[in-house]
Amino acid sequence: MKRGYDDESGSYSGAPPPPPSSRPRLDPTGVQQFLEEESTLARKVADHYSARTNQTLEEREASPIIHLKKLNNWIKSVLIQLFTRRGDAVLDLACGKGGDLIKWDKAKVGYYVGIDIAEGSVEDCRTRYNGDADQNQRRKKFTFPARLFCGDCFQAGLDKALEDDAPFDLCSCQFAMHYSWSTEARARQALANVSALLRPGGTFIGTMPNANVIIKKLREAEGLAFGNSVYWIRFDEEFAYKKFKSSSPFGIKYKFHLEVHINAGSASNVLRLSPSFKMVKVPLHC
Ligand SMILES: C[S@@+](CC[C@H](N)C(=O)[O-])C[C@H]1O[C@@H](n2cnc3c(N)ncnc32)[C@H](O)[C@@H]1O
Repeated sequence: MKRGYDDESGSYSGAPPPPPSSRPRLDPTGVQQFLEEESTLARKVADHYSARTNQTLEEREASPIIHLKKLNNWIKSVLIQLFTRRGDAVLDLACGKGGDLIKWDKAKVGYYVGIDIAEGSVEDCRTRYNGDADQNQRRKKFTFPARLFCGDCFQAGLDKALEDDAPFDLCSCQFAMHYSWSTEARARQALANVSALLRPGGTFIGTMPNANVIIKKLREAEGLAFGNSVYWIRFDEEFAYKKFKSSSPFGIKYKFHLEVHINAGSASNVLRLSPSFKMVKVPLHC
């Protein structure tokens, strides 16, 4: 369907991932196990995000990270307003629950494709796009046509799945590009997808954690963990020396936890956002 309205059935299954070219320390017998670990990790990330419930406006305002959320949204709004032109065809990699749909609407995009690995998030995005979640606020429908897919944006080429939609004027990947840095192969696939689907001269915008800041904080900490009342980051013992070779910047795991709800003492109210993030060596700022 070329630039049509919301395709309810939109989904694709990618080809098997290419063999990883990072991690030279693996012998051939370890490759299979490594690929399995990779797909288990991607599945864990998908399940984690799918299981996240939507917050009401009141819950959101009471959240201990409301200011962080507002800052993140401000960063995305500025990026979108700066780099999007009226009528642009936009590809949103790792689109999440569609929290940015209003921002794209305000930028007057002409067409939108959103892809995310978490099925639950894609469903929420679809609901939001169709207007159901916003009925109380009597928000008018989005003016741009959209397609929403569930899939891994970093595992395989997306050009087949999106051949009717490409090329795009702008590709965006907000607060998610780091998920591709688990291996060099995935990072390369992520960037290959961006360049294959953008028109010549098209624009890519993205945000991801700054590895330099994380390493600095790790080295300042006494142990292998640091944080404050709303977040912590913890590295495994294998990084006890706090040294990272610039020759192998991929697949450096750490655990990240964010306190999303108040009443942190009650397990049911606490959302443990602790997927094993992978860290990049090259900070890619917005
Ligand atoms: C922090 S959220 C950001 C969501 C959205 N971009 C935003 O800014 O609101 C990270 C998102 O990345 C998605 N994600 C992680 N790995 C992915 C992958 N391999 N392919 C597609 N989406 C992925 C998660 O499901 C989640 O929705």
